[in-house]
Amino acid sequence: MSILEAHHLYKNYHLKGKVLAAVQDVSLRMDGNEVLAFLGANGAGKTTTIKMIAGLILPDQGSVRISGRDPHRDPWALRSLGAVLEGTRNLYWRLTPEENLEYFGVLRGLTRSGARRRTLELLDRFDLTHKRREMVQTLSRGMQQKLAIAVALIHDPQLLLLDEPTLGLDVEATETVKTIIREVAAEGRAILLTTHQLDIAEELSHRVAIIQNGAIAIEQPTATLIRQFSGTAYTIELALGLDSDRMSKVEALGGVVKGNTIYVREPEIVYEVLDLLKPLPLIKVEQDQASLTEIFLQVIHPVNAPSPSL
Ligand SMILES: Nc1ncnc2c1ncn2[C@@H]1O[C@H](COP(=O)(O)OP(=O)(O)O)[C@@H](O)[C@H]1O
Ligand SMILES: [Mg+2]
Repeated sequence: MSILEAHHLYKNYHLKGKVLAAVQDVSLRMDGNEVLAFLGANGAGKTTTIKMIAGLILPDQGSVRISGRDPHRDPWALRSLGAVLEGTRNLYWRLTPEENLEYFGVLRGLTRSGARRRTLELLDRFDLTHKRREMVQTLSRGMQQKLAIAVALIHDPQLLLLDEPTLGLDVEATETVKTIIREVAAEGRAILLTTHQLDIAEELSHRVAIIQNGAIAIEQPTATLIRQFSGTAYTIELALGLDSDRMSKVEALGGVVKGNTIYVREPEIVYEVLDLLKPLPLIKVEQDQASLTEIFLQVIHPVNAPSPSL
């Protein structure tokens, strides 16, 4: 049994007599130890999908199962689910971290002593013990975000939904949240992550699903997707510029020389070029890798697609 099974979800919004198809046939499945980057432009349908999974919006069609239970019918499903939706709004700003954790622990069904134990554990783990008695509104944005994730984990859920968890964080806090996401997934949980920071998605995710106009446009393991979109070209970087004799030989083989860098389109001639370069000091030899940002842009705005004005 998967931790998350969302089957053929649909959701229309009705606004002033108009119907807006926000989600049209989205299916997602997740197992433990897995980070799924759920990507899409603004308005693509990410939050609507996440809210249907969290049991907050009833789908028009389709079903959700979290560890086999339906969050729209069975309150026990919520025991397997933690969510940080839209920033840190799952916190009470006038309470302390300690009070927030204990309150939400009891709300999610822990005993008072169970909630207390888990609170101390999470405060320690997220390095918030020294701030446990200060009002949340006085903490830094990074600490608030760590606390929001801790609160979502208080009842030890199998599935964690994170909507833009690094938005507005400084470099150090972003690194901390990334480490937390990695560790929490490695504990066997499934993490559904939306973010506009595609470098973070690329670093953390095992799989990527891109949603466009309410439907899944592409879904692949991250490494497969990157390989599929990567070229076969190589870049060779030298410590110094080339002498003219070597340069003309490299160009005769089909290499392109720009300053200290040589571009080789066919992988077969990389070794011939390297032979010519011997014994010049190399900085690096690298196969061109597509980044998730390039892939994302190409999926949502295909270069070869006819433009609507034609
Ligand atoms: N409560 C709502 N009422 C009407 N339309 C909505 C509502 N929430 C979202 N929408 C619309 O549904 C579409 C999908 O929105 P959303 O799921 O928030 O996308 P995302 O999170 O990917 O930006 C958008 O066109 C948005 O304007
Ligand atoms: Mg959203």
